[in-house]
Amino acid sequence: MAGIVKPPPDERRILIVGLGLIGGSLAAALRAAGFGADKEGAAGFRGTILACDPDADEIVRGIEMGLIDNGDTRLEALVEGASLVVLAVPVLAMESVMVQLAGVIDRAAPDVVVTDVGSTKAAIREAAVAAFGRMPTNLVLGHPIAGSEKSGVAAADAGLYARHKVILTPEPDTDPAAMARVRALWEASGAEVLEMDVARHDQVLARTSHLPHLLAFSLVDTLARQDERLEIFRYAAGGFRDFTRIAGSDPVMWRDIFVANRDAVLAALDDFEAGVARLRRAVERGDGDAMLATFDRASHARHYFESLLNQTSYQAEYQMQQHGKLRYRVSPGGGVTGRIRVPGDKSISHRSIMLGALADGVTEVKGFLEGEDSLATLQAFREMGVAIEGPHQGRVTVHGVGMHGLKPPAGPLYVGNAGTAMRLFAGLLAGQAFDTELTGDASLTKRPMGRVADPLRAMGAEIDTAEGGRPPLHIHGGKALKGITYNMPMASAQVKSCLLLAGLYAEGETRVREPAPTRDHTERMLQGFGYTVHREGDTCWLQGGGRLSAAPIDVPSDISSATFFLVAAAITPGSDLVLEHVGINPTRIGVINILQLMGADLRLENEHEVGGEPVADLHIRHAPLTGIDIPVEQVPLAIDEFPALFIAAANAEGVTRLRGAEELRVKESDRLQAMANGLATLGVEHVLLEDGIDIVGRPEEEGGEGARYAGGNIDSLGDHRIAMAFAIAALRAGGEIVIDDCANVATSFPGFIDLARRVGLTLEEQQEAS
Ligand code: S3P
Repeated sequence: MAGIVKPPPDERRILIVGLGLIGGSLAAALRAAGFGADKEGAAGFRGTILACDPDADEIVRGIEMGLIDNGDTRLEALVEGASLVVLAVPVLAMESVMVQLAGVIDRAAPDVVVTDVGSTKAAIREAAVAAFGRMPTNLVLGHPIAGSEKSGVAAADAGLYARHKVILTPEPDTDPAAMARVRALWEASGAEVLEMDVARHDQVLARTSHLPHLLAFSLVDTLARQDERLEIFRYAAGGFRDFTRIAGSDPVMWRDIFVANRDAVLAALDDFEAGVARLRRAVERGDGDAMLATFDRASHARHYFESLLNQTSYQAEYQMQQHGKLRYRVSPGGGVTGRIRVPGDKSISHRSIMLGALADGVTEVKGFLEGEDSLATLQAFREMGVAIEGPHQGRVTVHGVGMHGLKPPAGPLYVGNAGTAMRLFAGLLAGQAFDTELTGDASLTKRPMGRVADPLRAMGAEIDTAEGGRPPLHIHGGKALKGITYNMPMASAQVKSCLLLAGLYAEGETRVREPAPTRDHTERMLQGFGYTVHREGDTCWLQGGGRLSAAPIDVPSDISSATFFLVAAAITPGSDLVLEHVGINPTRIGVINILQLMGADLRLENEHEVGGEPVADLHIRHAPLTGIDIPVEQVPLAIDEFPALFIAAANAEGVTRLRGAEELRVKESDRLQAMANGLATLGVEHVLLEDGIDIVGRPEEEGGEGARYAGGNIDSLGDHRIAMAFAIAALRAGGEIVIDDCANVATSFPGFIDLARRVGLTLEEQQEAS
């Protein structure tokens, strides 16, 4: 594993008070990071680790294990010259240790910093105030979220903190230098350091750690009591083992935690009991639907936490540091033949869940995109109390709660990389009775949300954004919305849809005028759900206060995903490819129009309509392409397709000119810049402009089979469409194309690699070393 090796902390003498699993593992991790390792070399680093523990045997064991240099059972014998004191005693022992420390702390180094590892923080802050008279500014409270059911120094593990979080809970007047030193201590042990206030820490831990421990202790104890001879455990299978592993944890430590964090634990337990009572009633009544809804929600939440929530910005960045990012290596050449079906349309998938959730009745969705973006939307509605079954092979069942049936979510709604989710949610949530917070990943956090927040405010919504109108969005519910007439300054379906969704909750009419046609899936689906949306020319409007009734939704394949293979086939001699069941909504077919203008041999077959959206099979064969001036009215109709179209342009003869596409600068990356950088790497001549680009394609050689540009190393900037565009570029490259930072392909196109291989590309994924 490629990890970033952090330097050992710059401390002279670290004193660990309490040499158990946690303290011992910290010593072991510091040793492994090189702290105090170079004892002999005069120029080397000479830090020492001392430990204090009431059990002299533990000290001897710690010295024998090479974890500490020395130790004692008495604190006053060790504190001399200590630069960093780590209190690693059980929570309830903290106060007496702090009282002892307060009596001798003046013998420590003048710049001594004190920290602790206790699992609850409010109680320890109280203990500190009692011991020192106030919270010292050089005391940084902290909590490593790591442990094991084992205890004692013998179980010390140098890797215990690697890739685990440590939460520091500074006070407003905590000395920043002290914070920095405690942070360095934990980073050296491989942990990721986060900050939180004390109250929030205790609530979060009550739910994520203390409650599960309580349940595990209770379950094992209940079963053990029922079966004095413990016969029953002989038959215990994996489920029991998995659920109860933590019941083997240190009883004293856990008693202390429950005493110290009583209130937060009780609140968590109340919620849990209510949940169990609901399930009990469902079991009692044989209410299979209710059980299924709960289990489905839980099962998906569990997967979601692993695959998505773990990817919150800090986590994703952290994981990248630890494991490296995902990289594609694409060999030059290859063919493009076959019949494939790309995954469901992202825009329609988002909307199917949103409208399905607000409808009366049950919405059955087919062809749902199981990509991270639309799954984030699905999860957000689960967090607002909507029972959603699936997705199972693209099938989702949404049990609508009606226009006013959403429940306040327990925490912020995390929508990952999905601009569509954030902007549409903003409108929908502005009309709710409760407050919400919308957050997203690092890329989304940079994208402009003022474009929705401003008109929503004009409707009467109250929304706070971060600086510059960026996420997170805090939406204050319970505001009476009024319909407005809005002249959109940019052609954005997301802004239009956001306002229409808010308009459902507004008094009177909400009208949106678009400067150019944008995708109209929201309007179509609203109509499909029985909600009248009017359109006259460039303006659409609806009347607030109506209801939605559930209707089945058949999501066509996403033309934006199909585009990568359309371009792949268009540029590759000998190709012949059919893409089945692709949505060809007139507001989305800019790519078809543009490719045909460039001379592509692209035909629509088997055209028909599913659930209000036109679909067709797209049949494409190789034909020489010619550069064109892209008609400006096609730009919003192909807005997501330009990364791939730029690759078509690089393979066309002559110049392709794009103008009026400044929106590309605020997508998942600045797509004009990202593509220009990549084209430069491949040696494709181009001129980048503020609102577009000129791409100069070389004349085709005789026979048209040669390379059109070089290979090279491309940075996708974490943008799924940049990554996929350069993957298909390899078909005509002179050498391998290596694309960095490709994990986000999963946001819109799960299975891209498999389909690309199936049609004839040669590509592999690997972890980038960091
Ligand atoms: C989308 C609209 C487009 C598009 C995005 C999806 C939608 O954004 O780029 O991928 O589902 O409404 P804008 O409307 O902001 O251009």
